[in-house]
Amino acid sequence: MLTAPTLEPQATPVEMHELAPYAEAPRLQDARAEARGLGLTWEDGARARLPWLWLRDHCACPECRHPQTRERLVLPRAAAEPAIGVQLSDGHLRLTWPDGHASDFHGGWLHQRRPAAAPADPLPVPRPWRDDYSLARVRHADFVVGNAGERAWLEALLRDGLVLLEEGPLADEEVSRLATRIGPLRATNFGARFDVRSKPNPNNAAYTAIGLALHTDLPNWQHPPDIQLLYCLENDAEGGESQFADGYRVAETLRSEDPEAFRVLAETPIDFRFQDETHDIAVRAPILSCDAQGRVVEVRFNNWIRDTLRLPEEAIDAWYRAYHRFWELLHEPRHQLELSLRPGDMIAFDNRRVLHGRGAFDPNSGRRHLQGTYLDRDPIESRLRVLARHAH
Ligand code: OGA
Ligand code: ZN
Ligand code: ZN
Repeated sequence: MLTAPTLEPQATPVEMHELAPYAEAPRLQDARAEARGLGLTWEDGARARLPWLWLRDHCACPECRHPQTRERLVLPRAAAEPAIGVQLSDGHLRLTWPDGHASDFHGGWLHQRRPAAAPADPLPVPRPWRDDYSLARVRHADFVVGNAGERAWLEALLRDGLVLLEEGPLADEEVSRLATRIGPLRATNFGARFDVRSKPNPNNAAYTAIGLALHTDLPNWQHPPDIQLLYCLENDAEGGESQFADGYRVAETLRSEDPEAFRVLAETPIDFRFQDETHDIAVRAPILSCDAQGRVVEVRFNNWIRDTLRLPEEAIDAWYRAYHRFWELLHEPRHQLELSLRPGDMIAFDNRRVLHGRGAFDPNSGRRHLQGTYLDRDPIESRLRVLARHAH
């Protein structure tokens, strides 16, 4: 009996120049040209139709995507040209185009990107605190030793907007060392790294011993710091407990209990401003910012750097009423989490979501010293994606 010579090319791994894993997917079973594009079926029953323009645009060959930078090198076409050859081999796809160009697609890569698939992104969605919320805690040793602790910390920060790192060393600048593992420190007019303790001639309420009511930092910036880290080096003064409230949750409570107050805070830009001898940083923005779907995506709240309220006379009373209502809800016990930072603790929070505050302390009863810095959200998300790559 004659054995037919094998015409299939030797299966070589199809390289899509992606660092995130895409190989663990059901096998691509069928590919056929249809009027509007390519119809695909995987062995788990998933189907997709991908337009020709899209397929050509996503060619991963070295002419179309730079093999080192992984960046796209060609402009998409304006009008579709169907492939003239469709070949499936070993679960992977090869298309040949009318100009002779060939594009290889990994079947798993396509499966991840079929239009019905949820994006393959390891970032958790923000979850507003509920009554059963409890603060996520990660040991410093677990954070610095391997992936799992750091991942747990990043996930909690993005999900809950708040996470506590515990049992760290009492070392000057530890906050900067931890932050720079993740990304560059986000500098502001208070420096890239700041010390929170009572100082002579303070230029900010934080540098006194007075209590700080719930607030977000630097809402007077067009882009307030995304993430704040506060590392406790000393805390044996009387008082000075830390307080937190989830701005997303409280804004939703406001929306359901007092929709008019919610509307006023979301629709009325007001002025925020910080001024000292060398700075005058000001912005006009609402207390609550919503996205196109109406979801709250940012809370700006800091009563001591609110500037003059410049509103039409007839809008002023309604604004104060709404602001007061939000203030009361923020400070209700059901919305507040209070804890005393211990030396070696670092609290991290989403400064555009979670409000923070502290009780007054008595500087004559002991010392209180925190070191703080800020990070942008992009390096936080980036770090989690990179760690997730290696978890596979
Ligand atoms: C701050 C701040 C909190 C604290 O520095 O912005 O809010 O516990 N500090 O001292
Ligand atoms: Zn190509
Ligand atoms: Zn603050």
